[in-house]
Amino acid sequence: MAVRSILHYPEPLLKKMSVPVTRFDDELKQLAQDMAETMYDAPGVGLAAPQVGELRRLIVLDCSGKENPADLIVAVNPEIIAQEGESCEEEGCLSVPEYYALVKRFSSVTMRYQDLDGKPQQRQAEGLLAVAMQHEIDHLQGVLFVDRLSPLKRSIFRKKYQKLMKQREEV
Ligand code: NI
Repeated sequence: MAVRSILHYPEPLLKKMSVPVTRFDDELKQLAQDMAETMYDAPGVGLAAPQVGELRRLIVLDCSGKENPADLIVAVNPEIIAQEGESCEEEGCLSVPEYYALVKRFSSVTMRYQDLDGKPQQRQAEGLLAVAMQHEIDHLQGVLFVDRLSPLKRSIFRKKYQKLMKQREEV
């Protein structure tokens, strides 16, 4: 397994649409393994393939913090097929380091996807996992959580983030 480097905003690739996965081969399994390792290493609760430079519809999720290997969800070609309720939780993103903001989402969702063998799967979730599903699927459309902020909050974000990046360069 290998930890891959995570692309950071404003990397243009993060704004691109990912394409559906059609080949369920060893290379896909390897990418999924690398993504899981990268997510745990960060650490984070979810990671989408474009964040490691692969424009493919593949995400990994684990809201339990690596305690139980069975908690890892690898979702190929995921989509939300049902949603309900409202939530507004603080989100962050491994591609937008050190920035957090409240984002409006559905509080409960059903995600349909394929596993690494191409078999159709479905999973209903609430709370943090439901938010993570929506956040990671957004990445496959080239959408970051900061794109979901109000125009005012987004402009505040841009200024803050530029400052943060500058500070990091100076270190
Ligand atoms: Ni993210």
